[in-house]
Amino acid sequence: MPHLLLVESWVGAMGTLLPRAVTELGAEFTFLTRSPGHYPQCAPDGSPHPLRLGRAVVTAETNDPAAALHAARRIHADSPIDGVLTSCDYYLPTAARIADALGLPGPIPEAVESACNKALTRAALDRAGLPGPRHATAPADDATRLREAAEIVGFPLVVKPTDLCAGMFVQRADDWAALETAAGYLHRFAVNARGQRRDPAVLLEEFLDGPEFSVESWIRHGAIHTVGVTDKSLGGATGFVETGHMFPAAVEETVRTQLVATAEAALCAVGLDHGVVHTELRLTAAGPRIIEINPRPAGNQITELIRHVTGIDLPTVAVELALGDTPHHLASPPARQDTKRPQSAAVCMLVPSDAGILTSVDGTAAVADHPAVVSSSFKAAGHKTTAAVDNNSYLGSVITVSPDRAGARPLAENLLASISLTYGEEFTP
Ligand SMILES: Nc1ncnc2c1ncn2[C@@H]1O[C@H](COP(=O)(O)OP(=O)(O)OP(=O)(O)O)[C@@H](O)[C@H]1O
Ligand SMILES: [Mg+2]
Repeated sequence: MPHLLLVESWVGAMGTLLPRAVTELGAEFTFLTRSPGHYPQCAPDGSPHPLRLGRAVVTAETNDPAAALHAARRIHADSPIDGVLTSCDYYLPTAARIADALGLPGPIPEAVESACNKALTRAALDRAGLPGPRHATAPADDATRLREAAEIVGFPLVVKPTDLCAGMFVQRADDWAALETAAGYLHRFAVNARGQRRDPAVLLEEFLDGPEFSVESWIRHGAIHTVGVTDKSLGGATGFVETGHMFPAAVEETVRTQLVATAEAALCAVGLDHGVVHTELRLTAAGPRIIEINPRPAGNQITELIRHVTGIDLPTVAVELALGDTPHHLASPPARQDTKRPQSAAVCMLVPSDAGILTSVDGTAAVADHPAVVSSSFKAAGHKTTAAVDNNSYLGSVITVSPDRAGARPLAENLLASISLTYGEEFTP
């Protein structure tokens, strides 16, 4: 039985989809974590959480790459490991380093490091001559250097960390005061949610105006296979919170081709040669521009949308690639013209309009019962909400499918609009 090493995990959807894919492929896994208590024991239905169904949970300081590798070597000596994987962005470079050190399939570690640090990504894209936003970095607490960087980039600009995810601390700044405030927030967030000391640099980027998309691909032996293009809706307090996605994106074929070509050029530019990748882009008046490259399957249930429409399960592909296999179920891909398959699938997120304690969440049962809904889940009364400043503030989501191309998004949006929330007292998190 193939044996996979899972190095940490997200706790959300991918924390379930990835270990489930391992088990469904007839493989087993060891879960390596610095903090078993970070992860749930049970799934919402009370059954053991899929992360708990491996052959063992091994504790080691995964924030120290040498300690993580040492633990991996011990596990490997006891029971040979055939592949290494993580769903959690903060551990992608470590997982790649372990695979490399053990001689197992995996992406070039330096390429993963480039993709996982937004400043390094920009540098790699520049070197490859790919057009992108003006950009510059500066220490988050150095006003002089920040002003110099802002002069290079110009307002309006986007202030962002190089090393976080879920849209955390990504802010548009139209003037110096807004930039200084945003950089201050970043400076005070010195350690991430997994206890890792953060890059003190802040990245400033020219604001790219235009609709946003993602391109989902998998790569084996350097050959890129793009599965499709997903579109994205944005909102929340920053305007950058992801409020929904639809697959396939409602775009003309010519636009789709441009988006795919740009994403694939970017993957080559950073040197990614193995694994599943989720590349985000904005379509500006001057053409597609890369936002970021994530060397892992897409989050926010995008992989589920793709599965419903195409039959391709990207978490499964990620596991197969980690084991060095040719993605098995892609050897005979499902017929695209299969009329029984939905032609579009969408997810819409419920984002809070206020901070406070939810006193009631009404309308969820009718949403769950709607024939176009394949899954939905919502927070219950009593949940404490923060303002919608990043993708961690969701109050729930609904996934719909439609027999019509582009039909799924309006369905999901209308269903979400039927949910009514009542907020009680304010609270300060
Ligand atoms: N230069 C830019 N111009 C315009 N919008 C941008 C720019 N950079 C980022 N954004 C917006 O901010 C969002 C979050 O930025 P980014 O994807 O870089 O951060 P992230 O934390 O890695 O996000 P996630 O993990 O949720 O994908 C983007 O999806 C995009 O809407
Ligand atoms: Mg992003």
